[in-house]
Amino acid sequence: MGPSADHIAKTDPPTLDEAAIAALVDAFYARIRRHPELGPIFEAAVHDWPAHLRLLTAFWSSVMLGTRSYRGNPMAVHRGVAGIHAGLFAPWLELWRQTARERLGPDDAERIIGHAERIGESLKMGLGMARTKELGLRIVGQG
Ligand code: HEM
Repeated sequence: MGPSADHIAKTDPPTLDEAAIAALVDAFYARIRRHPELGPIFEAAVHDWPAHLRLLTAFWSSVMLGTRSYRGNPMAVHRGVAGIHAGLFAPWLELWRQTARERLGPDDAERIIGHAERIGESLKMGLGMARTKELGLRIVGQG
């Protein structure tokens, strides 16, 4: 990916709408389910995939379009995900980047990637998993 990629497509498709987000979410979770480490975690946790995809479409529509259709607490949910650990955020984000860049215009893709990176970072912090090893810190009183 060189700097030229930014200059090929100058303009995004006219609208990022809920249908585009639903299609992105579908394609992303299809990849997640095939991923050797992430797949089993999601298969164990998600029992109603159509409902999960609707929920995540609502989440991303709220983030990107301000629809306010998502009401939930991702931090609390991720605390309860069996097998989740810091090392999974990088592959999760890599699949998100790939899927977003394939399916959205370049500006929308970079915006939605930036949101995922920041939310992922705060989830990791909240879970007490953020760079604690590298910093030599021990987080106490979490949870
Ligand atoms: C290590 C990376 C991640 C893993 C393994 C993971 C795993 C999961 C799983 C298994 C669920 C379903 C939980 C359930 O229904 O019981 C879930 C829900 C969800 N995830 Fe993640 N996730 C990761 C990162 C992220 C990131 C970076 C975001 C946002 C940018 C995110 C947003 C959400 C949202 C919004 C839900 C729905 C929460 C709700 O039920 O209200 N996740 N995640």
